[in-house]
Amino acid sequence: MTRRFLVTAALPYANNRLHLGHVAGAYLPADIYVRYLRMLGDDVIFICGSDDYGVPVTISAQKEACSPQEVADRYRRLQQEAFRALGIEFDIYSGTSICRHHAPSAQEFFAKIHAAGKIVPRETEQFYCPRCDRFLPDRYVEGTCPFCKQPEARGDQCDACGRAFEQTELIDPYCATCRSRPEIRRTKHWFFQLDSFREALRAWLGDAQGWRENVRNYALGTLRDKLPDRSITRDLSWGVPVPLAGADGKVLYVWFDAPIGYWSFTKELFEQRGDAEGWRRYWQDPETRLLHFIGKDNIIFHAVIWPAMLLAFGDLVLPANVPANEYLNFKGEKLSKSRGNAVWLDDMLARYEADRVRYYLTAIAPEGRDSNFTFEEFTARNNEVLSDVLGNFFHRVFTFAERHLGGRQPKGVAGDARARGLLAKVAEARDRWQDALEGLRFKEALAAAVDLGREGNRYFDAAEPWKTRKSDPARCALDIGASLELASALSVLLAPYLPATAARLRAALALPAAAGNSDVEGLGRPLIAEGAPLASPGILFPKLDQEAAT
Ligand code: 2FM
Ligand code: ZN
Repeated sequence: MTRRFLVTAALPYANNRLHLGHVAGAYLPADIYVRYLRMLGDDVIFICGSDDYGVPVTISAQKEACSPQEVADRYRRLQQEAFRALGIEFDIYSGTSICRHHAPSAQEFFAKIHAAGKIVPRETEQFYCPRCDRFLPDRYVEGTCPFCKQPEARGDQCDACGRAFEQTELIDPYCATCRSRPEIRRTKHWFFQLDSFREALRAWLGDAQGWRENVRNYALGTLRDKLPDRSITRDLSWGVPVPLAGADGKVLYVWFDAPIGYWSFTKELFEQRGDAEGWRRYWQDPETRLLHFIGKDNIIFHAVIWPAMLLAFGDLVLPANVPANEYLNFKGEKLSKSRGNAVWLDDMLARYEADRVRYYLTAIAPEGRDSNFTFEEFTARNNEVLSDVLGNFFHRVFTFAERHLGGRQPKGVAGDARARGLLAKVAEARDRWQDALEGLRFKEALAAAVDLGREGNRYFDAAEPWKTRKSDPARCALDIGASLELASALSVLLAPYLPATAARLRAALALPAAAGNSDVEGLGRPLIAEGAPLASPGILFPKLDQEAAT
């Protein structure tokens, strides 16, 4: 039965190029999963775009002396190019300020929840900088986190402990622009009554299946005590205007409008496809599995606040899972632009092929805990695994087949006991791979594929075809045929991870360009036609120079 999936990856702020922490955290695992589902023939759409509103973008505009729209448009394009170069295949990459449905969608969301009585106005106290002559929403103010006491925490959320809070809770606040001490002024804002959904959220999270325990426990932990009302409007000009009379100069808080982008971009996608109502199948049919891939700093928004917004709006599905990764560190600290500790994706792709980057970032994916990126290890793992295990296996087998077997798949592999033994290992590897992918354990599924490559090398070594070529040519042909079958299995198992490599392999094996469900199910039986012409894919992974690794 075809399953239906709606997969999203966190919308990156449009004030930044992408760094490897973003990629390892959300985009790469999401892309691997989507490629896997597409291969199975499941019905899946993959939604993303830039998070254009909010203070991160206006602060960049201020620094770069241009308009927020210019900043958003420029970075959105850079992000799009970098994603494409890495082989991330979204069905749509939009942006919250360009999608013409965006404002209506976000405003519709607000208006409906407001009409239901779950959004209420209140006079509040906000920081105001007398020197800059403005209110200081969100990141315009910094201070010490009221929860974990981390200094330089932003006004809306602490990067260190992930807690979200009201800015007036900050200890020792200062204006992020001029560093002076802000004063407090009264202003009117609108608040979302999050606590009315606490019991429903607890029940939903309590029943959730297949979640990573760290994500679920974190979310459940935030629901232990009464939840404060969340302020969802700001005194800013850049953003979605609050759709109420008497709300001039107020916009929706970026964390209110951004997740609505998942919905509005889906609508935009189906408009592009000439099927304006098509989005409903994905957002309204309870059979749809909605998955939000994110980094751990976004857990509270995707596993608590956004589901509450969905409950308040009604008639849309709740996330089936929120796979959140931990942090990728570099030099012992979280990769981040603001800490001056970023390795940029576009720089990396200018030096290395996408599949090398995809491989290493998956091999060290921060799935259950933080992990560490180093250039030395990037080079070492590329050489030890991509060159010595996989590249070496392919090279030996194809070269042998070309030189000694006339470049054709030998006959009789299916009936050979030793080849069948190897094919049984292929089926085992597929089962392990599939079980891990279904469980969103991407590192483990990749390891299953690489281990099968190791098995291939062992088989080749033990078979000693360079000897049997003369002593037992029939045996030799069967062993090479079996090895080629293992190569074809790898073209399936590696496809979600190393799409360019898998495509080269499949062309070399005269297999259809894209592997499909019949290939996955067929693993364990020969996939290559007897007598099929083979062409070496060449050296797939030349060794990287360890000295140049910095
Ligand atoms: O943390 C971030 O980079 C946010 N821009 C993520 C937004 S995800 C979604 F809700 F749009
Ligand atoms: Zn100031």
